[in-house]
Amino acid sequence: MNIKNKSSNRNKFKGKVVLITGASSGIGRQTAIDFARNGAKTIILVARSKSKLEDLEKYLKINFPSKIVVYLCDISKKVEVVKMGRELLEKLGFIDILVNNAGFGLLGRVQDQSIEDIESITFTNYMGMIYCTKLFLDSMISRRSGHIVNVASVAASFGVAGLAAYCASKYAMLGFSESLHHELHGTGVGITVVSPIGVKTDFFSNASFKDRVPNYTGFMLKPEKVSESILAAANSHRLEIIVPFYVRMGVWLKHTMPYIINPMVGAIFRRQLNKPKETP
Ligand SMILES: NC(=O)c1ccc[n+]([C@@H]2O[C@H](COP(=O)([O-])OP(=O)(O)OC[C@H]3O[C@@H](n4cnc5c(N)ncnc54)[C@H](OP(=O)(O)O)[C@@H]3O)[C@@H](O)[C@H]2O)c1
Repeated sequence: MNIKNKSSNRNKFKGKVVLITGASSGIGRQTAIDFARNGAKTIILVARSKSKLEDLEKYLKINFPSKIVVYLCDISKKVEVVKMGRELLEKLGFIDILVNNAGFGLLGRVQDQSIEDIESITFTNYMGMIYCTKLFLDSMISRRSGHIVNVASVAASFGVAGLAAYCASKYAMLGFSESLHHELHGTGVGITVVSPIGVKTDFFSNASFKDRVPNYTGFMLKPEKVSESILAAANSHRLEIIVPFYVRMGVWLKHTMPYIINPMVGAIFRRQLNKPKETP
């Protein structure tokens, strides 16, 4: 766990109340550490894994003065999210920054995936983000202050073989955020999407990726790099920050010359999906 990075000790978020979903692991965990390092007053850590959240809480309390609140919630379940919102708003009054980061993907052909798996990805990555956004949007607008950061992916711009439900959830997240970005114009409330390429986290540890972890792992980012962009996004007027920035050129090329880029991207991911599973 890296507690030193470029954004250290700037107190950029002094006095701010921040809620991070998916804080128990990977990008969300690092983001909590970086908000604490940057002076956030209160950080609410949301996920389902009690022990992982409590370990992080302990670590943050030892190292930083921020107040830490742990909240166990499955964000794919509307009733749980509504309960969380009611309790947190009663306790804290408002939050300044909402980081919708919780999410997961399953590798597999649409034909082979169960409808329940597809629903689970959609309800976590897309509806979960909407449930959480709806909880805090009213209070942000009435205070004329607040920022929502949605963690999508470059999969919000490229539909790839083996990740249809995941890509769809991230495209949907980007579309929803773009509309909301326009609606929020002039309200004092912002929304920014952070779209990274592959990141070295537990994302790829679920069984569907077994022996098929992408062979581009050498290019993957560290969670610290994405966290840095999430903190930048929380103070940004931009709709989308792609990480690293030069991948935006790839997205531009895809939209400009889809007939060239789509077959190339398609072939790379199809090869990966068709790779025979290694036998132990
Ligand atoms: N790793 C990548 O290559 C990559 C690239 C682009 C975008 N992203 C996006 O980055 C975000 C974070 O992923 P990561 O890479 O940090 O993966 P990770 O290490 O697996 O972390 C995922 C987090 O999401 C939480 N989560 C999953 N389902 C949840 C649910 N139903 N309710 C509440 N929390 C839930 C997990 O916590 P619990 O299991 O404790 O609930 C965990 O804290 C995801 O949205 C992912 O799509 C990842």
